[in-house]
Amino acid sequence: MSEASANTMWGGRFSAGPDAIMEAINASIGFDKRLAPQDIAGSRAHAAMLSARGIITSEDAAAIDAGLVQVLDEITRGEFTFSTALEDIHMNVEARLREIIGPPAGRLHTARSRNDQVALDFRLWVRAQCDAAIAGLDALMRAFLAQAEAGADWVMPGFTHLQTAQPVTWGHHMLAYVEMFARDKSRFQDARRRMNECPLGAAALAGTSFPIDRNMTAQAMGFERPTANSLDSVSDRDFALEFLAASAICATHLSRFAEELVIWSSAQFRFVRMSDRFSTGSSIMPQKRNPDAAELLRAKLGRILGATVALFTVMKGLPLTYSKDMQEDKEQVFDAADTLMLCLAAMEGMVRDLTANRAVLEDAASAGFSTATDLADWLVRELGLPFREAHHVTGSLVKLAEDKGCDLPDLSLDEMQKIHGEISRSVYSVLGVQNSVASRTSFGGTAPANVRARVAHWKEVLG
Ligand code: ARG
Repeated sequence: MSEASANTMWGGRFSAGPDAIMEAINASIGFDKRLAPQDIAGSRAHAAMLSARGIITSEDAAAIDAGLVQVLDEITRGEFTFSTALEDIHMNVEARLREIIGPPAGRLHTARSRNDQVALDFRLWVRAQCDAAIAGLDALMRAFLAQAEAGADWVMPGFTHLQTAQPVTWGHHMLAYVEMFARDKSRFQDARRRMNECPLGAAALAGTSFPIDRNMTAQAMGFERPTANSLDSVSDRDFALEFLAASAICATHLSRFAEELVIWSSAQFRFVRMSDRFSTGSSIMPQKRNPDAAELLRAKLGRILGATVALFTVMKGLPLTYSKDMQEDKEQVFDAADTLMLCLAAMEGMVRDLTANRAVLEDAASAGFSTATDLADWLVRELGLPFREAHHVTGSLVKLAEDKGCDLPDLSLDEMQKIHGEISRSVYSVLGVQNSVASRTSFGGTAPANVRARVAHWKEVLG
């Protein structure tokens, strides 16, 4: 841009164009071109409203509308030349509109500012990403449900501190993630509901003296209502922050299952086998099957949380209303949204393809005295011992088994009776892992019957 050529959109009082470095730091077109469909949809709705209210003529509105359709078409086909000198998507579109239809293009920006324009475009984009996240989560929950249904009664060790705690069912473990992802889904639904108000018509910050119809534009773009305060309308980025926060929590859940997959697929655990489609080999060690996708899913939260922290940091302490700082909102959200959608799809594929190693799971469930709690509960129930005493007796039995190098069910009745004389043969019925899980029928417990009921519930909810 030559020294003398000031910006045609706002250069009325400028005698010189910006320095090249100024242009580089100021321009957002490199990334906000992604908002072109939203920008053009918003402009078409705005022009139609201006015409309906008699603010511009219907001829001008028709020319603007046809021109905008052509601009979008050029952008979609990749035939549009984006200009850094024109800063952002809003001015790029308008400048091209002027080339196509001439002077009526200048009427489009009546009763509007880039401040309400960008607030609208970005909201529309984030709203669509909420819908995409909800759809991705539905698909992921279905994949976990299929696993839960197949393995409702498969027994595996449940862990605390990554130490064997009590036997649980595979189905119950899978359903734990369904609960998490259902909460994630509701977070995106909540955020979507709150963001579904239209900021268009707030203009620069104070509203406008033109007789606009904000309900008309809000309705045209599927919003519940127009935003109620013009200052808030152009300075609010809560919708982006909420989207990022919901994404970060969701990515945390993804990282936790990813970590379990990394552990479970190791040669030491062999709980699961990941499909070839989601594993990689090593160029030097032929025996290796690396869980790269799971490791990357474990790591991706770093990016999403990074974007979340970045945008909070940008927004913190900003005075009302719009400040150019806020242009820094888009790249963070774009990257986080792209990352989240990829992660949801990758996890869905991995879960669908996952094979649980049932025999290994069951063996592992029986190891580590996992039914010690069942034994203590039996002493309470059948012999009427206080739980604390039952705990003590069980501890002695575990120690005995440990010394002998066997599991609890391998102890003879004689050996057990030496520790507590009233123990009877029926104790063996609670020492098996199948009986252990089958007995845990309390609401939310791991029993196969509970798992099947919960699977049925979720299937109905998901339709
Ligand atoms: N590119 C700008 C952004 O993304 C658009 C809004 C510009 N508004 C302004 N008053 N300079 O934030």
